[in-house]
This record gives sequence, C-alpha cells and structure tokens, in this order.
Amino acid sequence: MTRVAIIGAGPCGTAQLRAFASAAAKGADIPEIVCYEKQDDWGGLWNYTWRTGLDQFGEPVHGSMYRYLWSNGPKECLEFADYTFEEHFGKPIASYPPRAVLADYIKGRVEKADVRKYCKFNHAAQDISYSEESGMFTVVVRDLKNNENISEEFDYVIVATGHFSTPNVPYFEGFDGFNGRVMHAHDFRDAVEFKDKDILIIGTSYSAEDIGSQCYKYGCKSVTISHRTAPIGHHWPDAFTEVPLLTHVENKTAYFKDGTSKEVDAIILCTGYLHHFPFIDNDIRLKTDNRLWPLNLYQGVVWEDNPKMMYLGMQDQFYTFNMFDAQAWYARDVVMGRITLPTQEEMRADSAKWRQREEGLEDDEQMIWFQGDYVQALIEQTDYPSFDVEGVNKTFMEWEHHKHENIMGFRDNCYQSLMTGNMQPVHHTPWMEAMDDSKESYLKN
Ligand SMILES: Cc1cc2nc3c(=O)[nH]c(=O)nc-3n(C[C@H](O)[C@H](O)[C@H](O)COP(=O)(O)OP(=O)(O)OC[C@H]3O[C@@H](n4cnc5c(N)ncnc54)[C@H](O)[C@@H]3O)c2cc1C
Ligand SMILES: NC(=O)c1ccc[n+]([C@@H]2O[C@H](COP(=O)([O-])OP(=O)(O)OC[C@H]3O[C@@H](n4cnc5c(N)ncnc54)[C@H](OP(=O)(O)O)[C@@H]3O)[C@@H](O)[C@H]2O)c1
Repeated sequence: MTRVAIIGAGPCGTAQLRAFASAAAKGADIPEIVCYEKQDDWGGLWNYTWRTGLDQFGEPVHGSMYRYLWSNGPKECLEFADYTFEEHFGKPIASYPPRAVLADYIKGRVEKADVRKYCKFNHAAQDISYSEESGMFTVVVRDLKNNENISEEFDYVIVATGHFSTPNVPYFEGFDGFNGRVMHAHDFRDAVEFKDKDILIIGTSYSAEDIGSQCYKYGCKSVTISHRTAPIGHHWPDAFTEVPLLTHVENKTAYFKDGTSKEVDAIILCTGYLHHFPFIDNDIRLKTDNRLWPLNLYQGVVWEDNPKMMYLGMQDQFYTFNMFDAQAWYARDVVMGRITLPTQEEMRADSAKWRQREEGLEDDEQMIWFQGDYVQALIEQTDYPSFDVEGVNKTFMEWEHHKHENIMGFRDNCYQSLMTGNMQPVHHTPWMEAMDDSKESYLKN
C-alpha cells in the first residue's frame, strides 16, 4: 500500500489530513498516512505555548504566537469552504477573532473529520532522505517522550512544518553592551512586560505593526519603529515614531541613520523568519526567502526535482487556511493519481511564469490578486468546494483600506462571509478596550 508521511499537524498538515478524509468519505481508497507532529497537540502556531528557546525535550520551540494575539486579517478571508465559522460556532461571529477562537475553529474541523488517529504527537522529524534505488523516502523521527529514534519508509513526503519559527536575527553594533533586553518577535509572549517602557522595534511588516500596537494597547510609554526599506506610514498615535535603520546602540541609546537617537528599554527584532529545514536532505530541501512564489515548487506544492516530495504553505501569506486547503487537495490528488503531472521542463516553465509575474508586483493589492489567482487555479483542479475568490480579494481590499484609516481601530469592522453570504456582527467591545481575549468573552454577544 502507498505510504504517505505528513510532517507537522498545523493548519497545513491538518488540511492534508482533512483532504484525505474527504476522499475516503466519498468512497475512495486512501493511502496509509502517518502525520508526525513535534508538539503534543495539533494546531501549529495557533497552539499557544508560554515556552521560548528549547522545549522540555531540548527541541527548538515552534511557537511564535503571543498572548492577546488577534487575527490580523478578516476571518472571512481565511474561512474554510467546507467548514464555516457559522457551522462551528452555531452563529455568525465578529470578524477579527483572537487566537483562542481561531485555534478552536481549526481544531473543530479535524475533530469532526476524525483524523487524530493518523497523528503521532511528540514526534519530531530529524532526517528525511530519498533513495533513487528503492524509490522510497526514509523518515527518521525522534519519539520525544521515549527519547528514541524511529526510522520508516514512505512513498511520499508532505512537508507542513510552517516557516515562521526560526527567527532571522541580524546583528547591530553595540548589541553586546546594550543595557536592556534584545529579543526577536519569536520570543515575544506578553505585552504587559513592556508596560511603561520605551521600546524599539526593527522591521516594518506584520510582526512589527502588531507587536508595536499590542505594546501600546497594554501601556508601553513609546514605540519607535526602525525601517530598512521604508516606513510603515500608518496614522499612528502620538506615542509612535518611525525612524530610519538603526546604526548602533550605546548603553541604552539607539542611534539611527538620519543622526537621531532615542533612549530605549528594550529592542524587539521583528525581522522575519528563515525557511530552515535542516532535517531535510540537500537535494529535496526547499531553500527560499519569504515570498509569494518560491522556486522549484510546481503549483506552489510539488518539488520539481522529485515530485513525490511536496511542501504546503511555504509562500508568504495573505491567503492562509483556505489556500492551505487548496494546496492539500492538490497534493492529495497527485498522490492518488487523479492529477497527472507534466514533464519536469513543463513544470519549470509554468513556475517561471508565476515567478515572473510575482517579480512585477508593486503593492499589497497586486500581491493579493496574485495569490487569489493562484488559489483559484488550484481549486479548479480538484473537488475542493469552489468559493468566491474575487469576493475574498475584495474583502482584503476593504481590510487594507480600514487599516490605513485607523490602525488601532481596523479590527472593529465587520464583513460578509463569502461562504454563507451572511453579514457578520460587530464585536461587542472596541479592540483597544478589549483586554480579555478569551473565547468565552469573544463569543458573548
Ligand atoms: C506571530 C504570527 C501570527 C500570525 N497570525 C496570523 C493571523 O492572524 N491570521 C492568519 O491567517 N495567519 C496568521 N499567521 C500565519 C501562519 O503562518 C498561519 O496561520 C498558519 O499557522 C500556518 O500553518 P502551517 O501549518 O503552515 O504552519 P504552523 O502553524 O507553523 O504549523 C507547523 C507544525 O509543524 C510542526 N513541526 C515543525 N517542525 C517539525 C518537525 N521537524 N517534526 C514534526 N513536526 C514539526 C510544528 O510543531 C507545527 O505544529 C501568523 C503567523 C505568525 C508567526
Ligand atoms: N495576527 C497577527 O496580528 C500577526 C502578528 C505578527 C505576525 N503575523 C504573521 O507572521 C508572519 C511573519 O511576519 P513578520 O513581520 O514576522 O515577517 P516578514 O513579513 O517576513 O517581515 C520581515 C521584516 O523584517 C525586516 N528585516 C529583515 N531583515 C532585516 C534587517 N537585517 N534589518 C532591518 N529589517 C530587516 C524586513 O524589512 P524589509 O522590508 O526592509 O525587507 C521586513 O519588514 C506573517 O505571515 C504575518 O501575517 C501576524
């Protein structure tokens, strides 16, 4: 029987499990599946941990999420086409749920699909190699609880480990002598730590924007955001200042390229993450920066040099959960022989076209339409329920507009579900005043 290893049980890995379960429910014979997950439960980044650094088994902590994290985009843009928020929660709910609500939603779908039986939790992939001779992969995993390595053979490997866990940590002169905390966003957990403090953030993307906003919400004194390329440019509250790139620090003073300086208590590096897969052999290892079209992945999924190796969710992400589904359904159909892949040359030519278009994208709006076209192209090739991708793109446009209007208030807006057609309610408390981020609080309307 064909054997498939899935590495990771976050939103991508569980999408893959759900894809196979959906085929089985329609009467198909599905392959034997084993999903290795290094944490003790599924949910990936949405499975919050207080830990930082190494976990209790000495493995790098996967989690990069923090307390009080709320969705940074409308939930209407990530809704599963085969399992709506209304089905899960029994009613329409507000559009920017906190982490615990989204974690509950992701888990609800896979619990309903009864796929936990395929998962081996507390099992971390250590080495994945492919033998041309046998045509099989050898997957070595460490059973963390028993501290034992196990080796198994598979016909296919689907990597679903995420790529926002290994921090990219640049050095700036004087860090060694800074009289305060220098940390990466990966280790940020509780904004209350920075109450009454002056913080410096390096970077201008989502982590920078959200960690700065969080610290402000929970009472920090000031937020200085330092950019390498361009300022974020939101209408920030008075406590925020945007400055050019940090040149060096001396004691507690940070100096910037324009000659200005600022005394700060802590420096938070919101400088992104590395696609870091040391457990995968050279010839099958994806090497890329964080972008919308990494190369060597046909349809963004299939490793062109060895199509029995696949990757999910390796792109930079506007679209998330429903894009992961579209990819998982595609991967499933490749494994099950429902999709016939073209020649390697044709795969490369197709990827080159997407990459060429990606390189010409000029702003977030164009990037969203690009990723929407990609999702559309995938769902047309499988039986994943079709949904209104154009409507999702338009909701993203509204989201961008709401952020530019009011960065501290954009989460108070609500949108229409593209899956059920129902308008979602406004949340009972403005985000800036909503200190309780529990599921119970969010759902009481
Ligand atoms: C701080 C932060 C906030 C975010 N907020 C949002 C948001 O608001 N909305 C949104 O849509 N997206 C958000 N994202 C994007 C996020 O990438 C996706 O929502 C989603 O979690 C990606 O799913 P994934 O399965 O690819 O990866 P992950 O969620 O990272 O899951 C990967 C899984 O693989 C496991 N794993 C890793 N290595 C191994 C190994 N060697 N062996 C076995 N198992 C392994 C991990 O333990 C983990 O469970 C956020 C990301 C970050 C970093
Ligand atoms: N729910 C939420 O609210 C939330 C919160 C945080 C993160 N997230 C998610 O987490 C993911 C990762 O986001 P991210 O912001 O961590 O990473 P990212 O989007 O990859 O951005 C990395 C940032 O680091 C900067 N950078 C990298 N190296 C640098 C250097 N040497 N010096 C100065 N700046 C440097 C980049 O600047 P340049 O532009 O100059 O390259 C860029 O601004 C995204 O999917 C995001 O949606 C969501």
